Amino acid sequence: MSSCQDSPEGTVQNILGQESLKWVFVGGKGGVGKTTCSSIISILLSRVRSSVLIISTDPAHNLSDAFQQRFTKSPTLVNGFTNLYAMEVDPTLENEETPGGSDGMDGLLSDLSNAIPGIDEAMSFAEMLKLVQTMDYSVIVFDTAPTGHTLRLLQFPSTLEKGLAKLMTLKNKFGGLLSQMTRLFGVDDGFSEDAILGRLEGMKDVIEQVNKQFKDPDLTTFVCVCIPEFLSLYETERLVQELTKFEIDTHNIIINQVLFDEDAVESKLLKARMRMQQKYLDQFYMLYDDFHITKLPLLPEEVCGVEALKSFSRHFISPYRPSIHKGTLEELERRVSTLRERLKGAEAELERLRKGKQKA
Ligand SMILES: Nc1ncnc2c1ncn2[C@@H]1O[C@H](COP(=O)(O)OP(=O)(O)OP(=O)(O)O)[C@@H](O)[C@H]1O
Ligand SMILES: [Mg+2]
Repeated sequence: MSSCQDSPEGTVQNILGQESLKWVFVGGKGGVGKTTCSSIISILLSRVRSSVLIISTDPAHNLSDAFQQRFTKSPTLVNGFTNLYAMEVDPTLENEETPGGSDGMDGLLSDLSNAIPGIDEAMSFAEMLKLVQTMDYSVIVFDTAPTGHTLRLLQFPSTLEKGLAKLMTLKNKFGGLLSQMTRLFGVDDGFSEDAILGRLEGMKDVIEQVNKQFKDPDLTTFVCVCIPEFLSLYETERLVQELTKFEIDTHNIIINQVLFDEDAVESKLLKARMRMQQKYLDQFYMLYDDFHITKLPLLPEEVCGVEALKSFSRHFISPYRPSIHKGTLEELERRVSTLRERLKGAEAELERLRKGKQKA
C-alpha cells in the first residue's frame, strides 16, 4: 500500500474531469465487477454531463440486475435519474426475423459467418454504433463482455473489411440468393445487389469514423477492471497490450474485491488471502505506475440496486480508507485478551498431550 504514494491519484476522478470523453469502455475478466463498475461510472458521469448512455454488449446482460430494472435494445431512462439511459444490445444477429425454413438465407449467413468469424457481431455492433451516434448523448459507457469477446469487437473494422471482400466472392457464388440478404440488412423492397453492397459500404464509413474516434484518447478511454489475483493480473496485462496494439487509450485500472486489513480480521484464511492479494497489488502498482489505480473493497454483500451502487460509488472518487482501530487502547485490550485465551487453550492442550505421552 505504501507503493501507491508516487502514483497518479487512485480514483476515477480523471474520467469525470475529462470533458471531451465520448466513449468509455469498461472491460476485464468474467465476474470481476465490470457491470458494477460501468454502472457506477455512468452514475458518476450523469452528475457532471448533460446526458449519459450505458450500453451492455454482454449477451448475458446484467445491467438489469445491477439497476434492478428491465432494459431493452432501445435506451430507457434509469429510474431515479433524469439524464441516465441504459440499453442492452445483443452483439449477435437477431435471428427472430429469419425463422427456420429459409435455407438459402441461413446457408448464406452461416457461410459468411464461417468464412469471417465475428462478421455478424461486427455488423450488429456497427449498426448499433450508427444508431447511437445519431442520438447525441454527451458520453457513452460500455459494459463489455469478458475480455476475449471485447477484443474481438474492437477489431470489428478490419473484420468488416474482410467481410466486404468475401461478400463480393459470395455474390458470384450464390448469385440470386444474395437478394435474400435484404432482411439481414433491413431493406424492404426495391433492393439490388448494389443496394446491399452500398449499404455495407455506407456502414464501412461509419466504422471508419467510429474507429478514428476510438483511437483518439481525447474521445475514448478503456477502463480495465480486475481483482488482485494472478489470472486477473495476467489477463489485464494481455488486455493492456492488445489495447495498445489497437491504439486505444487506457490509463485506469480498477482493482475490485480487495480485502483491507480491517481491525476485526483474525481469520487465518482471510489473513493468508490478504497476503496473497498484497503480492499482486504490489505487482499492479509496479507494472502500471503511470495508471490511475482505484482499489475497491470486497463487501460482505452484493452491489445490487441504485442505492447500493450510489453508496459504493464513493470509493471511486476518494480512496478507500479501512476503519482500522489498531493502536487504540480498546483494540489493544481486546487483542491481548483474545491472545491470552488462545494461549490458555494451547497450554491446556500441551498439558494433556504431555500427560498422555507419560502414560504411554
Ligand atoms: N466489491 C464487491 N463486493 C461485493 N460484491 C461485489 C463487489 N463487486 C461486485 N460484486 C458483486 O459480484 C457480482 C459480479 O459483479 P459484476 O456483475 O459487476 O461482474 P462482471 O464482471 O460484470 O461479471 P460478468 O463477467 O458475469 O459480466 C455481482 O453480484 C456484484 O453485485
Ligand atoms: Mg457483467
